[in-house]
Amino acid sequence: MVVAIDGPAGAGKSTVARAVARELGFTYLDSGAMYRSVALAARERGRPPAEVAPELHIELGDRVLLDGRDVTEQIRAPEVTEAASVAAAQPPVRDAMVTEQRRLLGSGDWVAEGRDIGTVVAPEAAVKVFLTASPEARAQRRAAELGVDVATVLAEQTIRDERDTGREHSPLLQAPDAHTIDTTDLTFDEVVSAIVALVTRP
Ligand code: CDP
Repeated sequence: MVVAIDGPAGAGKSTVARAVARELGFTYLDSGAMYRSVALAARERGRPPAEVAPELHIELGDRVLLDGRDVTEQIRAPEVTEAASVAAAQPPVRDAMVTEQRRLLGSGDWVAEGRDIGTVVAPEAAVKVFLTASPEARAQRRAAELGVDVATVLAEQTIRDERDTGREHSPLLQAPDAHTIDTTDLTFDEVVSAIVALVTRP
């Protein structure tokens, strides 16, 4: 079974998806970590992301391994975040990642998180959730996480939001059959319980 959780940056997808997976005993798929790994590899190799994407061996788990090397922390660097958002707009990069994501999701029980899981990667997902929150709330959370100021995060987030929603290929889009959960005024536990309930008491 696939539980798809999509939404914009800072809506709480990663922490929520990880907790939902733990509670259900499902495996967590962080599709953003894959785009981040492509961006990191391209930067390090000085080659276009579209060229390196199909060559990479990315393993996701407690740690993120890029061709066997632990890049868990490196892929969270601000410059990689920005480069990932640019790389993710390129069709050859998306093709390579979506193929791999579909292969993984083909067997077993998953909570998969990203921008296009419910729309493109797994349109047949049993449960689809679209997590949102006000831009200010999202920026505040991210700023607290990174220990930087809210205004800077909000400015960068706005640019990435526009790139995610405005891109031609697999834009951030809510699937018509997705349950929207606005996390602005909900606690973390409330969000996790709401999603778990959708799976266990449909
Ligand atoms: O944590 P945050 O939401 O900032 O980013 P992420 O989920 O780690 O994703 C990194 C980048 O990959 C984002 O800027 C998205 O543009 C892109 N992405 C995507 O295009 N499709 C996905 N399924 C997941 C991420």
